[in-house]
Amino acid sequence: MPSVSPAIAADALRLSVAPMMDWTDSHCRAFHRVLAPHARLYTEMVHANAVIHGDRARLLAMDPSEHPVALQLGGSEPGLLAQAARIGADAGFDEINLNCGCPSDRVQAGRFGACLMREPQLVAESVAAMIEACNVPVTVKCRLGVDDDHEWNRFLAFIDAIADAGCRMFVVHARNAWLQGLSPKENREVPPLRYDWAYRLKAERPELQVVVNGGIADAVEARAHLDRVDGAMLGRAAYHTPYLLHELDVAWFGGELQSRGGLLRAYRPYIEAQLERGVQLKHIVRHVLGLFSGQPGGRGFRQVLSEGAHKPGAGWSLVERALALTEREREAA
Ligand SMILES: Cc1cc2nc3c(=O)[nH]c(=O)nc-3n(C[C@H](O)[C@H](O)[C@H](O)COP(=O)(O)O)c2cc1C
Repeated sequence: MPSVSPAIAADALRLSVAPMMDWTDSHCRAFHRVLAPHARLYTEMVHANAVIHGDRARLLAMDPSEHPVALQLGGSEPGLLAQAARIGADAGFDEINLNCGCPSDRVQAGRFGACLMREPQLVAESVAAMIEACNVPVTVKCRLGVDDDHEWNRFLAFIDAIADAGCRMFVVHARNAWLQGLSPKENREVPPLRYDWAYRLKAERPELQVVVNGGIADAVEARAHLDRVDGAMLGRAAYHTPYLLHELDVAWFGGELQSRGGLLRAYRPYIEAQLERGVQLKHIVRHVLGLFSGQPGGRGFRQVLSEGAHKPGAGWSLVERALALTEREREAA
């Protein structure tokens, strides 16, 4: 009998922020944590080989405030994935997630990511090895299929093979990946969304935890998914309009809505600690540029930070200047 991955509490799955390369680094996750104390956060994808042989201090950088936070791995060799999963769990990550959804050429050449949807047995072996190797939940993020796979039974067989290997939680990016002719960006927009497959998966396999992802743009849409599946994972909307995360966290878990400025000031201790360690302000504040998006002063906020954060010595006072400008513009509006 294969081991079964440890369960994740239902509350811990309702709201999550998607893994996004170049975006959800540790600074971004620490910011999202300030906004949404109950959200589950995901790292960028890191290849198993990089975890094993690369610069771990950089690749697995994580601030203690980030918990619960999942490490997303890429790869397709069960032995290497198991080793990387153990390293990730030992480094303190709360979950290890396997990427079966990325369609980029580089990833296809390496035979991982979305093309793994055509190799359920290999994914099952990988997941079984990862579960054996670590004591935190091992989960999978996948698409509905690749290219012209439109058969429900094929998707279900993929999920069943991995569930039989002990996986209990699936993040379903509810569209196909087209492996030929579309860029990764187009692959997040062109293949049509079919949330009904995620809903049907939950209905037919109620013992599995299912989180739906893809195209969730606002609070109303996000809330509607919770009636059908265990959670909603937001990617681009969370990144570009991060205040939405705060609104969702307060609406779903309670607490008082805080102002954008108040939230940013709550992030100040993190920023200052990073500056003291020699991190440049630009690497941190690039993630907060959307905080005032759609608000009076939002453009000025973005501009002050974009123009100033790369300058030598830029520090918290620049952020205060950007905030003061938005506050003035809001009063004038
Ligand atoms: C810039 C960017 C980088 C991404 N990198 C990853 C990644 O490393 N791993 C992954 O599973 N998905 C990745 N994705 C896909 C997202 O996790 C998510 O599935 C997709 O954006 C759909 O959700 P959304 O419509 O809420 O953005 C990335 C998406 C974006 C926009």
